[in-house]
Amino acid sequence: MAPQIFVLDAGGQYCHLIARKVRELGVSAEVRPSDAPASELRDAKGIIISGGPSSVYEAGSPTIDPDILKLAGVAVLGICYGQQLIAHLAGGVVSKGDKGEYGSAEITIENASVLLDGLPKTQRVWMSHRDKVTQVPPGFSTIASTETCAIAAMANAATQQYGVQFHPEVVHTAHGREILSNFLFLAAGCEPDWNPTGLIEQVEEQIRQTAAGRNVFFFVSGGVDSTVAYTLCLRALGPERVYGAYVDTGLMREGETEFVGDLFAKLGATHFHVEDSRKEFLDALGAATEPEKKRHIIGQQFVNVQERVLNSGMFTSGNWILGQGTIYPDTIESGGTAKADLIKTHHNRVPAIQKLIDENRIIEPLTQFYKDEVRAIGRQLGLPDAFLDRHPFPGPGLAIRCLCTTSSGSPVETEDGWVLPIQSVGVQGDSRTYRSVLVTKEEDRAVATAIVNKRTDVNRAVSLAWLHVPVADMAVRPAILDEARLARLRRADAIVRKLSVETGFETRVWQFPVVLIPLGTEDRPDSVVLRPIQSVDGMTADATPIPTDVLSQIVAQLREVEGLCGVFCDLTNKPPGTIEWE
Ligand code: XMP
Repeated sequence: MAPQIFVLDAGGQYCHLIARKVRELGVSAEVRPSDAPASELRDAKGIIISGGPSSVYEAGSPTIDPDILKLAGVAVLGICYGQQLIAHLAGGVVSKGDKGEYGSAEITIENASVLLDGLPKTQRVWMSHRDKVTQVPPGFSTIASTETCAIAAMANAATQQYGVQFHPEVVHTAHGREILSNFLFLAAGCEPDWNPTGLIEQVEEQIRQTAAGRNVFFFVSGGVDSTVAYTLCLRALGPERVYGAYVDTGLMREGETEFVGDLFAKLGATHFHVEDSRKEFLDALGAATEPEKKRHIIGQQFVNVQERVLNSGMFTSGNWILGQGTIYPDTIESGGTAKADLIKTHHNRVPAIQKLIDENRIIEPLTQFYKDEVRAIGRQLGLPDAFLDRHPFPGPGLAIRCLCTTSSGSPVETEDGWVLPIQSVGVQGDSRTYRSVLVTKEEDRAVATAIVNKRTDVNRAVSLAWLHVPVADMAVRPAILDEARLARLRRADAIVRKLSVETGFETRVWQFPVVLIPLGTEDRPDSVVLRPIQSVDGMTADATPIPTDVLSQIVAQLREVEGLCGVFCDLTNKPPGTIEWE
């Protein structure tokens, strides 16, 4: 099915958000690189050019095929950088700004237009730009302005071409949804045609065609995507023709393997197999302490297990193909980088899998859908909400939440608090940092983040929730990823998760890592850090306070856990801290 809307990716983080919002309005939309030729886009009803960080004057900045602006009957909407591109290519003027405008602003409607039809005269919008359009191209007129941006929106009614300097796709733009809706239904003349759950039968038919009599094998992770993809295949082909293998790395949360086993049994899977690789993973990790080294070892072990399974007995026969839960954003190029190669590398592209892809022995039923659409399909298929709404969990599992070290040391008191001789990962600009942790008395998250930004020796601040002994009497001792520490973390994590779910806190955060750090005493060698955060996509995050009553219940139970000496709360936003500690 050809989409009615193409979203051209000019390098902005927002292009997928735009496509998702269009689909939420019931209209089919696909993302294309910004330089897609007009001839490939001419059958669309509308084209939206996304925002992006570039300036139209920079050499090599993303551009569009100018013929797009000549396509008859195709409406165009440029957002932010997209508006500047239209202005630049159609004979308007874009001026370089030095300070820019970031955050909330108020626009005032200056002239009537289809795009802003039915909206209040003034409204809040979200701005994020440096350059701006200072003269509209011939045929265009200004339709809205802000105090600092005279051309906040422009329109050419004759050609149905529009530009907005703000971002209608983000929730901070009060009437963003109506603006997109006006563009789709009034300017572009779209008809509602997109309903992911309505596509289930069609997807199942495609699965039968692709399988063409062969059987399908999945490596399932217990994650939403692979489970929904598996369920679709199960329905399309029946339980005899669909196999699932789950690799138990020993790095999973408490009860996870049983949870996944139960879930698949309830789905009606008869061929579900747990590959017990616990010893193999732990042996391979040995005394590794460095975060990326741990990730690498785990990735390699996954490869080994997958190769072993795929090269064993039945799967080598041509009667088998591999099923995967790859979703839409994983499949397309973005900002000039072949993102598809980077994503899910250790799961999806091991040599034995590459061979299956090359032989066309692969089935990926979810490649047209976004994550929230996959969830909607899962819901329609009867998967439980408790499963579909689970927080994201990193592939390397608890290994990257169990900090290890070869050195020993004591906390050092400074004017801002105690500096712990423990390194955690952070992020500043585009680079990752690996620095010490500050225990602060400051409870305010913004102030804590400001202290971290001020100091060059730390990238993270934590507050105290409970201590068995004073910080001055605690020490860091050499620690590796062993059974005892993993069991301790698993127990602490299970306690926190249970209370988080029971108190309803779980639904108020995007993710809630529980981290074990080797800080304590001889007989209580570890402490726990609680890291609940709010986020939209994991790229940035806000540290979220834990309500006092929830925290006191958590502490009351954690202090009983064998070997634990303290509980801390992470106050650091991302940036400068990452969500995980490694
Ligand atoms: P950071 O720590 O980089 O995390 O702020 C951002 C999001 O990515 C997840 N994460 C991972 N997921 N393998 C994964 O599958 C990994 O190695 C990995 N590292 C971080 C993290 O849980 C968060 O949601």
